Order: sequence, then structure tokens, then C-alpha cells
Amino acid sequence: MNPPIKVTKTNDSSLSTIDFNNIPFGKVFSDHMFLVRFDGEKWHNAEIRPLEKLQVHPGNLAWHYGQAIFEGMKATKLHDGTPALFRPEMHAKRLNASASRMCMPEIPESLFLEAIEKMVRLEADWIPPAEGSALYIRPLMIATDEFIGVRPSKDYTLIIFTMPVGPYYPKPISLLAEEHFIRAAYGGVGEAKAAGNYAASLYPAKMAKEKGYDQVLWLDAREAKYVQEVGTMNIFFVIRDKLITPITDGTILKGITRDSIISIAKSKGLFVEERLVSIDEVVNAHEDGSLTEVFGAGTAAVISTVERIGFRGKDYLLNQDNYKVAPMLKETINGIRSGRIEDTFGWVKPLLPEAIQA
Ligand code: COI
Repeated sequence: MNPPIKVTKTNDSSLSTIDFNNIPFGKVFSDHMFLVRFDGEKWHNAEIRPLEKLQVHPGNLAWHYGQAIFEGMKATKLHDGTPALFRPEMHAKRLNASASRMCMPEIPESLFLEAIEKMVRLEADWIPPAEGSALYIRPLMIATDEFIGVRPSKDYTLIIFTMPVGPYYPKPISLLAEEHFIRAAYGGVGEAKAAGNYAASLYPAKMAKEKGYDQVLWLDAREAKYVQEVGTMNIFFVIRDKLITPITDGTILKGITRDSIISIAKSKGLFVEERLVSIDEVVNAHEDGSLTEVFGAGTAAVISTVERIGFRGKDYLLNQDNYKVAPMLKETINGIRSGRIEDTFGWVKPLLPEAIQA
């Protein structure tokens, strides 16, 4: 049985200080957080309480050996003001897949979903009204044993906190296809939403920035030949009117936005291919004019278009004026999230008043 969730509300809300028309991504946090602990056997002490700093022992295992995983999800408001979640069960499943790969305990899906729902209901006034903005939900699971030595922790804490956000990338971005550094190898942890994956990407991203690019376009670890993802999002190409994206082969994140984009594209009659995509194919398609769009898809990024890819000292420019598929997909996914477009996929979970739901 799941532990009951105790709720302590803040009496010091900072909501009135927020300008929803100008929200920097990841810097403004809502009033509450959810916590639940794992003691080696069961999840216990579930509570929602005012957001505050946590006291952590210096020997905390997550800090030393990296057992830390997270999710990124979004809540929006439908046109009638009802808060709604987007594919929350998929996020629960992906969190548990990450947990299993990192030797961490899975959380009962029902407990995770109840916690998310309770948090979003409580923070509903923090959901920005504008379409394309959202309440970003960050579930985070960390090891909490106070112990020095490489072994899985026995104790863990799952924390959920939320933040109103606008676009992660407000402008089209540039990518450097990276042949020296790698993000993930076959058999590694590239598919897990593990904190360490992001830490390992920082130095190559810094190098790419120094060369004038916003992000790295990762290539496979074996041959530096096949495109993987961007790290902050999955990658899509439109070549000869086909929507093409790398297969999820264990090295890339199984993006929930990626999956949604593929379904929307198919429903619009687009031809979609999930397969190996070599950087040579991308470059050749650019050269013969058949590469018309490159864009990334992720929960934070939604759909972010690419204006330039650098590879082996040459820049391949993409004319944003020619983009048709990416804007259509973005419009559709944002429209589904806001209730403006009918959700024929069953992805949106409105959080109706509890009395009506019962
Ligand atoms: C997300 O898309 O939710 C992520 O976790 C990626 C991160 C760059 C914010």
C-alpha cells in the first residue's frame, strides 16, 4: 500500500512576485515540494511541504558515486482553466527504467502519479496561461546513504518540485557535430535520464560554445558516424519530405516528446523513419538540397529549430523560412496541451476538481 501524502501548505507564497510574461527557464520555483523516502524496503513518509533547502550529509552517496536520476514533465492549463498533465504515465515508466539501470528502487506508478497530481493541483495558479509556456515538473531521485564506498545506496529520496517556464530555447540554435567526445556508448547509460549524462556533456558543450555553437550534436561512440541526439533533446531531420529520427538503440533518451512528434506526424500523413542516420547522409542531403529542416524535440525544448550544423570545419546553414513541418508539429503539440486542438491520442490528463472526479 502507498504511504498517505501529508500536505502542509505555505503561508508565505511568492506567486504574486512572478511576471508570467517574462519567465527565465529554471530559475523561478513554485511554493511547494513533494518528498518521499525509501528505506531499503519500502517508500515511506510521503509529504508535500513548503519548498526549502535540504540538509544533506557530506557523505551522501549521490554526490560521490552519482546515483541521481530525474524526469522533466509539463502541466498546462486547458482553455477553461483546468490544469492538465501530459502523458504522466510515460514519465513514471521512464523514471522507473532509469532507476532500474542505475540500481535504484522503482517507485510505484500509482504513488508517483498521485504525488504529481497533488502537487499540480496545489500549484495550479503557478501554471503560466500563455500557450507554449507551462509548469515544468522536475521529479528527482537521489541516493541518500551516508557512506563512502562504491555500492548502491539503501536509502533514497524522491523529490518533486515545479517551476513556471517559457521556451528553453527562445531562438533557433546551432549544433556542432562532435567526432572526438562522446555522450553514450552501446551498453552504457545513455538511455537513462541520469544526472551524470548531463555532467559528462558539459565540457564538450563548453568547447562547442567556444567555437560559436549552442550545443553538441552527438555521434555514436563506435564510429563517430551516426547521429544520436543533442543531449537536451532528440533530433529530427526532414529529408525529401520524410521525417527521419535516430532509432532508440539504448544510447539515446526515449523522448516522450519524440514519441509524441512521431505519432502526430504519422497522423498528419507524413512518412516517418526511425533508423540509423549518418552525419554523411545529413551533409549530403544538405548539399543536394533535399535536407529542408532540422529540429530538436524534448519536454523542455518542445520543438526547437536548428539554423546551422558544423561538421569538420564547415557550416551547413538551414533557412528557417523554408520550415513547414517543425512549425506544424509545434503548433499541434502546444494546441493539444492547451486543449485548443482535440487530443485524439489520449495524452492529456485534465485534473478535474476532486469532487467531480470521484
Ligand atoms: C527536459 O527536456 O525535460 C530535460 O530534462 C532536458 C533539460 C535540458 C532541461
